[in-house]
Amino acid sequence: MDYQKIPSPCYVVDERALRRNLELIRGVSERSGAQIILALKANATWAIFPIIREYVPCTTASSVCEARLAFEQMGTLTHTYAPVYTEREFAGLMEYSSHITFNSLTQFERFGARAIAGGISCGLRVNPEFSTVETELYNPASPTSRLGITADRLPKLPVGVEGLHFHTLCESRPEALRGTLAALEQRFGHLLPSVKWLNMGGGHLMTAEDYDVDELIAILTAFMAKYPHLRIILEPGSAFTWRTGWLVSTIEDIVHNGGVGTLMLDVSFACHMPDTLEMPYKPAVIGAHEPAEGEKSWRLGGNCCLAGDFKGDYAFDREPAVGDRLVFEDMIHYTMVKTTMFNGVAHPAIAILTSGGALRMVREFGYEDFKNRMS
Ligand SMILES: Cc1ncc(COP(=O)(O)O)c(C=O)c1O
Repeated sequence: MDYQKIPSPCYVVDERALRRNLELIRGVSERSGAQIILALKANATWAIFPIIREYVPCTTASSVCEARLAFEQMGTLTHTYAPVYTEREFAGLMEYSSHITFNSLTQFERFGARAIAGGISCGLRVNPEFSTVETELYNPASPTSRLGITADRLPKLPVGVEGLHFHTLCESRPEALRGTLAALEQRFGHLLPSVKWLNMGGGHLMTAEDYDVDELIAILTAFMAKYPHLRIILEPGSAFTWRTGWLVSTIEDIVHNGGVGTLMLDVSFACHMPDTLEMPYKPAVIGAHEPAEGEKSWRLGGNCCLAGDFKGDYAFDREPAVGDRLVFEDMIHYTMVKTTMFNGVAHPAIAILTSGGALRMVREFGYEDFKNRMS
C-alpha cells in the first residue's frame, strides 16, 4: 500500500484483516459451542459493525451509551456489565440489555428486582483471585480489586441470579484460562450447579499468531462436558480488531536537542495512542526497528504539549525526512475508542481499506467536534 496517498493523520481499518479475525472467532464459537460476543469497550467504531454483524451478532456493553450503540448499530440487545450502576442510568440500560451483570451484592439488591421484572437475565461478577496479568493496571483479579465479588462474600446465591461472570485475562493465552477455571471451581464451584450461564469475560487473544485455538476449544469443551447445563459466553474485545489496521501520520518537523533527534509528528501518543503511555509499550512502526548498538536512532514526538508525549528509540530502514508518512501498526483496538481532543490537536480521521483495495473515508473531525465537547 502507498501510505503517502492516505490522508494524514488517519486511522485505517483493514477490512481483509478484520474478516480474517471474524472468521476465526466464528469458527471457535461453532467448534466449541460457546457464544462469543463483541466487547464494545475495545472498539466502538460502528462503521465496521455491519461487517462484524455478518459473523457475530451479539455484544457486551459497559455503559448506557455502549448499550444503545450496540442496539442501534448491531440490532441486538446487549449483555451489560459495569462496575457501578446509577439510578439515573439504570432504566436506560434495561431498555437495551438482555443480560445484566452486577459487580456487588449491594448493587444487585438495589437494582436486581427491577431487572428481573423487566425480563432481564441477571448475573454476578465474581473474583476468582487468579490472574496471570503482570501489569497491575490491567489486573482485575487481585484480592483487593474493586471488580467482582470475592468467594468469602458468596456462600450462596441470592434468589433471582441466573449467571456468573468473571474477567481475569488480558491478551492471554489458553493456559491462563485453564488456571482461572481451576481457581473458579475451587472458590465458586458450589454455585455452578445453580446458574444457567457463565460469562468468561474477555482477554482471550484468540486471533494472535501464536495463540493455540485448538487448546482453547479443548478447554471449553472439557468444561462444558463437566457442566452440560451451563451456557458459556466469552466476551473478547481486542481479539476482534487485533492487528486490523494502522494509524497513519506524517513527519512534520525534525528537532535536535541535547544530542537527541526527534521526529515531530501530526499525532500524539497521549491523545491518539494513550495505551502506549499507560501500559506502557513501544508501538511497532512500519520500516523501523530496534536500534542496534551504535546505530543512528530517533525519538518520535507527539504534537500535544505534554512533556512526556514521545516514544523511542527507533532506527529506520531509510533516513526519515519531513513530509514522510510514519505508520503505526495495530492501532485499532483500545486506541480509536480512547482518544481525546486535549490541546485541541487535530483528531485523526477514520477510514476503511475495503477488501477491494479502495480507501473509504468514514469520519473526519474538526473544530465543531472539539467545541461541542467543551460546553
Ligand atoms: C468485563 C470485561 N469484559 C471484556 C473485556 C474485553 O477484554 P479484551 O479486550 O482484553 O478481550 C474487558 C476489558 O477490559 C472487561 O473489563
